[in-house]
Amino acid sequence: MLSISGKEFLFWKKKQLSKGGDFQSFVVLIDCVGGISESDLNLLMINPDDNLFLKKNLDYLESIWEDHLLNSSPIQYLCGETFWRDLKLKVNDKVLIPRSETELIVDIVLKIFGKKSKKLFFAELGTGSGAISIALALANPFWNGIATDIDQDALDIATKNYKYNSKQSNLRFYCGHWWNPLEAYKGKLDLAISNPPYIPKKTYEKLSKEVKNFEPKIALLGGTDGLKHIREIIQKAPFYLKKRGWLILENHFDQGEKVKQLFIENKFTSVEIVNDLSGIGRFTIGRYK
Ligand SMILES: C[S@@+](CC[C@H](N)C(=O)[O-])C[C@H]1O[C@@H](n2cnc3c(N)ncnc32)[C@H](O)[C@@H]1O
Repeated sequence: MLSISGKEFLFWKKKQLSKGGDFQSFVVLIDCVGGISESDLNLLMINPDDNLFLKKNLDYLESIWEDHLLNSSPIQYLCGETFWRDLKLKVNDKVLIPRSETELIVDIVLKIFGKKSKKLFFAELGTGSGAISIALALANPFWNGIATDIDQDALDIATKNYKYNSKQSNLRFYCGHWWNPLEAYKGKLDLAISNPPYIPKKTYEKLSKEVKNFEPKIALLGGTDGLKHIREIIQKAPFYLKKRGWLILENHFDQGEKVKQLFIENKFTSVEIVNDLSGIGRFTIGRYK
């Protein structure tokens, strides 16, 4: 640990932020690599005469910050970690950086099932870093889940994240195409969740460098109209869900009505579009008959 005066650190912080970048990315850098949490930083603003203890020196932190600014590399990949809800998750370029809007999926599940409901068997299709499944598995130790992904490298990260964040054993990880790894659980799921790749091809081409050049294409691209994977997941869901089981999907900002229609065409009831915190119809939910 390197001791540094609060005033020196605050001066350095101001200099780094004046070069560009956003404060949240800076917080990821100083917490995940520097070992200074956002609350430490807030305390320092009140008591700038305090000393700080850094895991890495300022030159090293500055080199990461400059790489981030110069090459548009996501700070989370450079630091190897990110924050999501109350979790700290390892990430690399094999997994999508979990987005804050996706955090609401966990609240939707908690609202439908209640935190105390004893038994719940859920599956998440396309788990990436494992964020959603790990949050659900931690929400209730009596719930059991299976998290799947087509990419074994992503599942390796998700498994590490589960072990790092939990001492429980109520989540398993299977590799394969959407529902395929769940053959043995046909008709047994109370809940299936997915934040599948849903970006339409033309939109994908126009994504920012930070996303397009670094995040996995397989995690983002949803075919010509963006609905290729969503369609397949909805069409096959009735084979895997219990009667009255729930399906919860995240979709692109303008896909809500189309996804709702797909739910209805496939005989789902109680179909609803749920807004994210910006008022965008980001999620579609329904139950199978
Ligand atoms: C939008 S990311 C979501 C990741 C994570 N659940 C989250 O919310 O941050 C979509 C995930 O689906 C996975 N995926 C893509 N195609 C798939 C397929 N055919 N079968 C299973 N998973 C797939 C990707 O590897 C990626 O991890």
